[in-house]
Amino acid sequence: MNNLPRICWTVSACLGLAGMVWGMQMAGSGDHSNLAAHAHLNLLGWVGLALYGTYYRLIGLTRSRVASIQVGCAIVGSVIMGIGIAIAHQGGTEAIAIIGSLLTLAAGALFAAITFQRPLRINSGL
Ligand code: HEM
Ligand code: HEM
Repeated sequence: MNNLPRICWTVSACLGLAGMVWGMQMAGSGDHSNLAAHAHLNLLGWVGLALYGTYYRLIGLTRSRVASIQVGCAIVGSVIMGIGIAIAHQGGTEAIAIIGSLLTLAAGALFAAITFQRPLRINSGL
């Protein structure tokens, strides 16, 4: 990955769009049982990834091994968590949601570490 902000924003846009279509489907059908899966796909995939991309753009970080792993965990985690919560809420296995949660948590922990290692400085990127 050599343009992390772009990857974050483009994937965020696509996941946000998918989450909105899912919301429309719930609203249209009147079946809101996938509310939690829709909420997490949107909040982790759309909002979370956009925030990660914004931070990387602000500190001028376009390529980094650790940040690439962080973004990879965030993308895969949000998708797997969204799908996994839906499966769990329909009475299926919880294992997929748990794997997604752990990847999401790993992404959150790596991101926290990166903010300490590469803090946002006044005037950086703006
Ligand atoms: C076209 C766009 C969207 C539609 C049609 C839509 C539709 C819905 C529907 C029908 C529900 C279930 C409401 C309920 O039963 O209480 C819901 C819940 C939710 N949606 Fe969306 N949604 C959209 C976009 C978004 C976006 C962009 C986000 C976040 C960035 C979001 C976050 C949530 C959350 C957090 C809940 C759960 C609320 C709760 O806990 O009661 N939605 N949405
Ligand atoms: C590893 C990460 C996370 C885990 C394991 C997790 C887990 C959960 C669980 C178990 C619930 C209750 C769902 C239910 O009652 O059916 C929930 C609800 C909720 N979570 Fe998360 N969450 C995570 C991250 C986040 C993040 C980062 C956000 C916001 C940016 C968020 C926003 C919400 C909201 C708005 C609700 C209430 C709507 C709903 O019922 O789904 N969560 N979460």
